[in-house]
Amino acid sequence: MTARIGESMICCGLMSGTSRDGIDVAFVEITGRFPDNKIRLIHGETLPYPGRLRGMLMTGYQALSAVDVATLDFWIGRCFGLAVLQALRRAGLRRKDIDLIGSHGQTLLHLPEGMKQGREIVRSTLQVGNGAVIAQITGITTVSDFRSADIAVGGEGAPLVPIYDYVVLRSPSRSRVALNIGGIANLTAIPRGAPLKAIFSFDTGPGNCLIDTAVGVFTGGKETYDKNGVRAARGAVNTRAFEMILSDPYFARKPPKSTDPEKFAGSAPMAFVIEAMLREALADPRDERMRSKLRAADRKRLSNHLANSVTRTATEAVAESITRAIEKFVMPTMRPDEIIVTGGGSKNRFLMDCLRQSIMRSLPRAVVETGEAFGINSDAKEACAFAYLAYLCLKGIPANVISQNAGLKGAVLGAIYRAPKWRAT
Ligand SMILES: Nc1ncnc2c1ncn2[C@@H]1O[C@H](COP(=O)(O)OP(=O)(O)O)[C@@H](O)[C@H]1O
Ligand SMILES: [Mg+2]
Repeated sequence: MTARIGESMICCGLMSGTSRDGIDVAFVEITGRFPDNKIRLIHGETLPYPGRLRGMLMTGYQALSAVDVATLDFWIGRCFGLAVLQALRRAGLRRKDIDLIGSHGQTLLHLPEGMKQGREIVRSTLQVGNGAVIAQITGITTVSDFRSADIAVGGEGAPLVPIYDYVVLRSPSRSRVALNIGGIANLTAIPRGAPLKAIFSFDTGPGNCLIDTAVGVFTGGKETYDKNGVRAARGAVNTRAFEMILSDPYFARKPPKSTDPEKFAGSAPMAFVIEAMLREALADPRDERMRSKLRAADRKRLSNHLANSVTRTATEAVAESITRAIEKFVMPTMRPDEIIVTGGGSKNRFLMDCLRQSIMRSLPRAVVETGEAFGINSDAKEACAFAYLAYLCLKGIPANVISQNAGLKGAVLGAIYRAPKWRAT
């Protein structure tokens, strides 16, 4: 490692979330001492996954064999490594400028509740994107596999970003909620002036995964997300489906808790919603009688209308689930002044509007704004957090604060893959 540790380091963070939409790369400069570090974003960008690879990831984990998993581990490691090299070129940086990489990898499985094996319950999580491959391609020491150590001490393995949220967003005068809407939505509550041991964090439930599924299914795969929330804005809410989504027992469970999209987007609740709405549409007598007479253009309009309504329902349910999580699990401890929204969901204008409206119900004066209003790049935030988590790993600082705050052991997060010799000079 270089002599810069402890003074100033340039770290690279790599992230691909549950949306599997691409690889977020961020280069950050970290100065100062924990927990008073200053973290400055130098460059951030998102690089797409190769189409074939994304296709394999989107098949769902149940369909993956051990061969697939091993292949994905090394293939994604390679993509991540190459993404760093590309981003370096665009940022005008050289390999030797970078001290360390922190790579979250791609989650294939996250099972903190565990699987029953006879009388035992085995809890697990699996992120692929092999760290050795990244270190070899880039020549930069790489930290990966951040979640395992927290699962091993009995934690949820997620969210891991809270320590970063605390360092970057804590305020002596404002109580804040850092809300990241990725495939899954999670929040960190940071009471004003609070020490690290007073923050708490959990996954509120589905974020974009529900919306992406709705759009994907009802456009026959032609679209993958609701750009700027345009479809939702044109649709109508199906109240029954809305209630059905929100009746999922996950929402009532007390934090700490974490989840993954397979639970919401791939399985029961969303399938029910889709089915219910389809049935409703087909049961409309006008549709039945008119169906045979419909011209192609009319038919297209009808399916567009359905796509918009499912999307609207999914979007409102996501916003409502976040608001309820804040009301139920945050407000008894802290009254938020500011809700700082990051992740792809912050770009969905309609979702942001829904969120503002539902938050107003119990927090009429709260500010609900995207990260940019607070000097944070909404796209790069999680990648920045993993750059910082790599730094904490190297420093030997236990970063699983949420578990520690719940009375579990501290754990240094991440496995270190050393760079080839030439980096050590
Ligand atoms: N302009 C946009 N309008 C609406 N939704 C968007 C927009 N840009 C991104 N998104 C949503 O954000 C998702 C990606 O968010 P991201 O924070 O990268 O999630 P993850 O961490 O799960 O990868 C996309 O799948 C999409 O649903
Ligand atoms: Mg993403």
